[in-house]
Amino acid sequence: MSAHPLEIPGHLTLTTGEGGLPKIRIESAFSRAEIYLHGAHVSHFQKHGEPPLLFMSAASEFAAGKPIRGGVPVIFPWFGPRDGYPAHGFARTTEWELVTTALLPNEAFQLVLHLPNSTGYQVEFVMTVGDQLSMELGVTNTSEQPFTFENCLHTYFHVRSISDISITGLSNVGYHDRIADVVTTEGHEPIRFEGEMDRVYFNTSATTEIVDPGLGRKIRIAKSGSQSTVVWNPWIAKSIRMPDFGDEEYIRMVCVESGNVADDQVTLSPGDRAVLAVVLSSESL
Ligand code: BG6
Repeated sequence: MSAHPLEIPGHLTLTTGEGGLPKIRIESAFSRAEIYLHGAHVSHFQKHGEPPLLFMSAASEFAAGKPIRGGVPVIFPWFGPRDGYPAHGFARTTEWELVTTALLPNEAFQLVLHLPNSTGYQVEFVMTVGDQLSMELGVTNTSEQPFTFENCLHTYFHVRSISDISITGLSNVGYHDRIADVVTTEGHEPIRFEGEMDRVYFNTSATTEIVDPGLGRKIRIAKSGSQSTVVWNPWIAKSIRMPDFGDEEYIRMVCVESGNVADDQVTLSPGDRAVLAVVLSSESL
């Protein structure tokens, strides 16, 4: 079989992943990553000498029309349920087109994917894999009317134990508690987990950090073009209800999601472009 023209031999290869879905494997000087064209979905990122940064469910489906559970689902053009339509939009279940690949001067690898068959807007996703994982979701309004959408990089992080981690960066930020369905304000203390959590923090562009003493690691989530941060852990009962998620997997994951949802949704004038950018980095505690 001849190599795909966008492959970079020994470093960026197109292969077949779970469920027979096309997958890109990247080996950089600093890290390894795997990206499915299905959903433009980063399913794996691991710096050399560190445990995986991203959580992937062992129960995930890998099939046309189904979202992958774990990694970084790309949520667009709506967040959450929508009557008669798939939850969290269709971007995460669409096979994206690989457009370009490159080796950058800093030895990171970059790839660009396009969301196909879009009418009235264009969406591209740029991923850079090096010492950090950078992701940029760009949306351009190519129509003659305003275009309104929600977006989110619904990132699942791998942690040692949900009961031991804390999240900083959201002190005094307002949030919608989707479980109690109330709007309230975060306190001064770092966020800790003692049960199911599903919160949409709004009007915040703050950098957050996940402090994980069990893995001896701190993960930093820096973002721009994002006014919402969603923090989610399904805990026990919801884990059992989810068919594509292990009953006890909630212990080893937390979602800290960067995007623009609900009242933070984006409206683009004709010709305008918005970029949601997230940089994930990590260091020892
Ligand atoms: C989170 C939502 O972002 O995604 C939760 O806040 C939801 O309410 C979770 O349960 C997972 O959604 P899905 O569609 O991937 O099961």
